[in-house]
Amino acid sequence: MSILHSSIHGCGIGLRSQHFAYIAEHQPNVPWFEILSDNYLIEGTVQREFVQQIRPDYPITFHGVGLSIGSVEPLNKDYLKRLVKLKNELEPAWISDHLCWTSAHGYNTHDLIPLPYTPDVVNHIVERILQVQDTLGERLVIENVSSYMQFKDSNMTEWEFINQVVEKSDCHLLLDVNNIYVSAINHHFSAEDYLLALPANRIKEIHLAGYEDKQTHLLDTHSRPVTEPVWDLFAKAVKHVGDVPVLIEWDNDIPEFSRLLQEADTAKQIQQQNL
Ligand SMILES: [Fe+2]
Repeated sequence: MSILHSSIHGCGIGLRSQHFAYIAEHQPNVPWFEILSDNYLIEGTVQREFVQQIRPDYPITFHGVGLSIGSVEPLNKDYLKRLVKLKNELEPAWISDHLCWTSAHGYNTHDLIPLPYTPDVVNHIVERILQVQDTLGERLVIENVSSYMQFKDSNMTEWEFINQVVEKSDCHLLLDVNNIYVSAINHHFSAEDYLLALPANRIKEIHLAGYEDKQTHLLDTHSRPVTEPVWDLFAKAVKHVGDVPVLIEWDNDIPEFSRLLQEADTAKQIQQQNL
């Protein structure tokens, strides 16, 4: 096993280029970073060199939006090839992406578009996850997304859908607590029912982030601190799932690194109180 392979524990931070200089200068005491793998797929870029440089000091995980696991088009082989190359180079503890689709007719969006929750779609997703897992040579970690629309065709709950996908594909789950809360408010279901229905033994990681309240709906902007109801739901998640790694995500209006460390400290405290 390579020396780079270290285990992931505690509360990590989503690595963003705005903090590269701070991290290089201060080598903050962060147990691990999650990198947005799609931003590192091109060789020879400044970003990729930065991660190569800090990699011996920090365990990392990969997090992507480019798999488009729910799309009806064939999986993007070039994307997967680049991802495998990056994996071999940086040796992440695991690779995650989202339970959604992000491409159609050659057009890619960074919006995470939800799926209809039906048995046919379960089978479609499972087949594609199995292909990805074959290519990666490891289990994929799949994340629940937040949503603002639902399909009339759905004939099961989102959590029943997730359970079937995870069970049939033998993949792992990334539990985004904020996403559950946002969708629960937008679609008027119980966030706790959703959370407690998820298979605890499949959950490899928990995400926390902040949303924006648009009055008519909550928008998952990753531009704010984690809110009180999401911290409350996180406490319940810790009780349900146990001691799994937690990550703070912040993608818009990105604050100073120290603000992210404060969020991580709060997460750590809540985790310790609820284990
Ligand atoms: Fe997330």
